[in-house]
This record gives sequence, structure tokens and C-alpha cells, in this order.
Amino acid sequence: MEAIFRALRDACAARQEQLEAYLRLPSISSDPRHKGDVAECARFTAHLLQQAGLEQVVVHPTPGHPVVVGSWRGAPGRPTVLIYGHYDVQPVDPLDQWVQGPFVPRYHDQRIFARGATDDKGQVLMHIQAVAAILRETGGLPVNVIFLLEGEEEIGSPHLPAFIQSHRAEWAVDLALVSDSYMWAENRPAITTLLRGLVLLDVVVTGPKRDLHSGSFGGAVANPLEMLARLLASLKDDTGTVRIPGFYDAVSPPAAALRAHWAQLPFDEGDYWHALGLSQGWGEVGYSLLERLWMRPTLEINGLWGGHTGPGGKTVLPSLAHAKLSMRLVPDQDPDAMVALVKGHLLAMAPPQVTIEVSRIPGGGCAASVPHDWPMLQAARRALRESFQHEPLLIGEGSSIPVVADFKKWLGVHTLLIGFGLPDANAHAPNESLHLPTFHTGIESLVRLLHYL
Ligand code: BES
Ligand code: MN
Ligand code: MN
Repeated sequence: MEAIFRALRDACAARQEQLEAYLRLPSISSDPRHKGDVAECARFTAHLLQQAGLEQVVVHPTPGHPVVVGSWRGAPGRPTVLIYGHYDVQPVDPLDQWVQGPFVPRYHDQRIFARGATDDKGQVLMHIQAVAAILRETGGLPVNVIFLLEGEEEIGSPHLPAFIQSHRAEWAVDLALVSDSYMWAENRPAITTLLRGLVLLDVVVTGPKRDLHSGSFGGAVANPLEMLARLLASLKDDTGTVRIPGFYDAVSPPAAALRAHWAQLPFDEGDYWHALGLSQGWGEVGYSLLERLWMRPTLEINGLWGGHTGPGGKTVLPSLAHAKLSMRLVPDQDPDAMVALVKGHLLAMAPPQVTIEVSRIPGGGCAASVPHDWPMLQAARRALRESFQHEPLLIGEGSSIPVVADFKKWLGVHTLLIGFGLPDANAHAPNESLHLPTFHTGIESLVRLLHYL
């Protein structure tokens, strides 16, 4: 492996240029105006796989954005690894808070700043460069690999489950490998063994058939915004526990061993609040902060609007009120059942003076978890330890990577979640960055991992 590491170091500048080129493509999946840019990014991704020496590289169209697949299967009898990542990115607003344009990579303080630097193009490229270096130096790989790189993760992977189902027969794999998560801190590698699931809901409350003058009609009719605010406020008690009957029915109590494992992580609550500019948090009683983040379901209001939101005042009694809600789910909570539960509750509780419509926004999915005694974790621990000189931590994560549950469901495999983002990478926020020393050491760890699997 030393020869591979040397080759990687020698090509350091060229590899960073490749990263820069990747980060210049504005592959914002949620914005129809960027559909062409997402397609171009798919083609560029395919080009990267081809250059790396992968075979059968194909850009597959879907009803949404393309899926890019490439494989190398020259190691019969060795494990087959499905390497997944996403080349799409989140929107960039608020644009005025970026020091430089989000798609004009900037170097500062050992980092590269651009949208997608950590989430997830930078981490995708780490896998491509690791495989490229091994293939170039040794003419083969120690395992078989299939790259599955999608352009719709940031909109909930609505078309990927069907795509996986249709490729089930070809994809007899031993594990999935994903770098789309975080380290604990610089040089403190982490393996994520638990991700929450996600569902998104759209709520519309309708009152009078048009907006009304709030002087002429105020006092006579129910205000849809107020009715919605009352309804939403009634969903939780004073400590944040969701009051919808049945909301926690499928939630298993935390396994004692997992609780104990998390309790000994070097986590400082004070630092956590400080980094957020808060003096304290808010959440369910009886669970530690990490437990609340990693193994309790949530219900959040992501947006709430209606009536007048422009400059100055306007005496209006609105006809419509809107809310966007999301739920984070834990293992055994079924997304469809949770949607039905919440929808049924909102419809039943809505006052008769208004009508309420609740619909699920496509995408999202189930939670995913990996047992701490899964043998593949040993190879990952060794690879990370040898590269970063620290024993990796086994952590949970409150966010979602929807397809991970589908890998288990359709391909029958667990996923190794090895993230190289640093906690202050600003994913989804202005001035997203990737720490370059971590990028380079991380690639070495991936080279090791492919040898140890
Ligand atoms: N890479 C993230 C998920 C993530 C973040 C995993 C931090 C581990 C640590 C992913 O790209 C993401 O943003 N997921 C979204 C899904 C949604 C947009 C459908 C999420 O969790 O909100
Ligand atoms: Mn991601
Ligand atoms: Mn993301």
C-alpha cells in the first residue's frame, strides 16, 4: 500500500484540481432551473469513474435526475462493495452570506469552500480517487466494487428505491459503503451506526374563499393562520413530547448497551450549546441529549406562512395558511403509518370553521441501524485507526440518508457509514467547506479499508 500512498501524495495537486472542477458544477437538485446543471454533473461524475478505470460506466436516466453507475468486478471470490454517494447539492441561499460564490471554490485555512465540498461531492471524490490510485498502481482492486452515485439525495431519493429494485439481480453485494456523514472532530474518526428516517408533510388550511379586510371581517370569521398555529402548538407538551396518540407506539426503549456506549462518548453539552449560540436546549425529559438526537423521533415545523409577510403591515385576514412539517423516525417506525397517524390527528383536531389538507411530500424513508458486532466494522476501525492514529468512535446521527434502509430491504446488506466531514463543515449552510488534510488522510483510510474488507 505504500506505493499507492506515495502515488496519491505525488498527485496531490492534480487531485485537488479535480475536486475544484467537481465543485464548480451547480448541481442543485431541488431547483428546476438547474436541471441541466445536474445532468452535466452526472456526466462529469461518469467521466471521473471512467478515468479512474471503472468499467461499464453508465448514466441512467430516471423520471428525475440521473443515476451514475460504474463497476469493477475483477476479484472473483472477494467481497463486492456497493459504494454510494450523491453528486447533487442543497440550494445556496442566503447567497449574500457566502464569502465567495458557492460554486467558485476558495481555499482558506486548510479548507476548500464551496457548496457540496463535504455534502457530498468531496466525499464521493475521495472514494473515486482511492479506487483510481489502487487500480493505477496495482492494475486491480482487492475487492469488487459497484459505484452508485445519485442526483436526488437532497430531495429525498424519490426514484432510487425503484432503481435498486430493478438492479437487485445484478447487485449481489456484501456491504454498502457510504461517506456522507461526519467525523467526531479533526483526527477523531467516527463510524455512524444509526441514522434516523424522514418524512415530509405539506399542510394547507383554508378558511374564507378569498382574503378579507381584517377590519370589516375580523371578529366574525376564524383566521386560518390562527387555527393552524393553535393546531400545531397543541401537538407537543411543554417538554417537547409529541402528544399525538400512538406517536411513540413503535419506538423501542433504548438498548442498555447502546445507552452505555453513548454515555461514554467524549461529548460536552456546554460546548454543544455554545457552538449554536444557545444557553440551553429543549427536549424530552428522561433522555440524554445524544439519545434525543439519535434514537427519539421528532416532529418539526420547517415552515409556517400565510397572509402578509412583505414590508410594513397589511390589515388582512388570510384565506389560506401553510405549514411544512417533517418527522425524524427511528427504527421500526413505518413512514406510511406515521403519515397516516399525523394526518388523521390533524384532520380530527381541526376546527369545523376551516378545512385542512395534509399531504406527504415524496422522498425520505425509514431509519437504519447497524449492530455494533457487525464484523465489517472491524475492518473499518482498523483502517481508520491506522490512518488517523485514533480509535474511531461508534456514533449515531439524527439526519437521514434515505437509501440506506433500502440497501437492507432490497439487497439484504448493512451499510458502513464512514464520514469525513468535520462538524463545522457548514453543510446545507453558507460557506460549506471540506478540510483538506482530512480529505487526503481519509483517502488513505479508504485505500486501507478496501484491502482489509
Ligand atoms: N449527508 C446528509 C445526511 C447526514 C448529515 C448524515 C450529517 C450524517 C451526518 C444528507 O445529504 C442530508 O442532508 N439528508 C437530508 C435528507 C433530506 C434532504 C431528504 C436530511 O437528513 O435532512
Ligand atoms: Mn449528504
Ligand atoms: Mn445533505
